[in-house]
Amino acid sequence: MKKIILSLFATALLIACSENTDVQEEVLINNDGVQTAELRKCFASENFDKMMLNPEYQKNVQLIEDQTQSYIADMELQAKKGKPGGKPSGGGGTPVGDNLGVVNIPVLVHVIYSNNAENISDAQINSQIAVLNQDFRKSNSDVNQVPSQFADLAADSEVTFTLAGVTRKASSRTSWGTNNAMKSSANGGVDVVDPANYLNIWVCNIGGGILGYAQFPGGSAATDGVVISPQYFGNTGSVSAPFDQGRTATHEVGHYLNLRHIWGDGRCNRDDFVSDTPTSDRANYGCPTYPTTNCRSADMTMNYMDYTNDACMYMFSSGQKARMRALFAAGGARESLIK
Ligand code: ARG
Ligand code: ZN
Ligand code: CA
Repeated sequence: MKKIILSLFATALLIACSENTDVQEEVLINNDGVQTAELRKCFASENFDKMMLNPEYQKNVQLIEDQTQSYIADMELQAKKGKPGGKPSGGGGTPVGDNLGVVNIPVLVHVIYSNNAENISDAQINSQIAVLNQDFRKSNSDVNQVPSQFADLAADSEVTFTLAGVTRKASSRTSWGTNNAMKSSANGGVDVVDPANYLNIWVCNIGGGILGYAQFPGGSAATDGVVISPQYFGNTGSVSAPFDQGRTATHEVGHYLNLRHIWGDGRCNRDDFVSDTPTSDRANYGCPTYPTTNCRSADMTMNYMDYTNDACMYMFSSGQKARMRALFAAGGARESLIK
């Protein structure tokens, strides 16, 4: 049953995103806020679709989804039984609570640069690690802007990040695209380092208005990790408004930890596999006013997994927290990261 649901989901993603690909190519010339946002459409999902054509990957994704759903069911059961670990979240969201406590992810940053601005400072790198820690621990200063409808759902994901190393590599290449060339020394990039134990982040100019992209769990080890353009990495140094608060990495690490876009990359009935994020049929851009209603409910536009400006996204939900943490539980796809 679950299998059928997931393959339907994947097929729909393919359709939803091929529409967006057209948009991407059309607006390449212009670069104002809105059109940049248009350009940003559906990137992670597009890579996901390409990978879904590979049966091996498709099988991995299915196994990870099964494990995730059973983790969530366990947490819900615990909550019903009133076990101490099983704290129910408000608003009918997915209860979360496991025995893992705060989990830490060691991070390796690979800076590949063609000029001084792209060779970002250690301070800029550290600022990104700090933002990740704030956003994933709900200690971001803007979390108080979450409207009361969603306030009980804003979650401390209990994930932290420590910088374990920085690699720097000069290159004459000025834009890298999204075909993972930056992840391979044979192509002038930097090879992935021990992805079972480290989150690898490549910082290089992607080009084409793309802020960043990520690989979901279950993909090839050689390309595992996140890529961010230097001007959207961290919140100090050579950063560019309105994506200058380090939220691109928050969003991409969300994908790396198996979160889908908040609107499920499709129409109203398309799911992000998270029960406490209201359904929507579109990405939101800029800085939407609350409530922004789609599919007969207010969108959680302030969620990191929407497409709003950095200053207008400030929460993960309890259901998203559960989905991410399933990866660290016994048998989870990223269990080895936190050891
Ligand atoms: N993958 C998306 C893109 O490249 C990231 C969007 C992040 N949003 C943000 N406000 N930083 O467009
Ligand atoms: Zn995304
Ligand atoms: Ca949802």
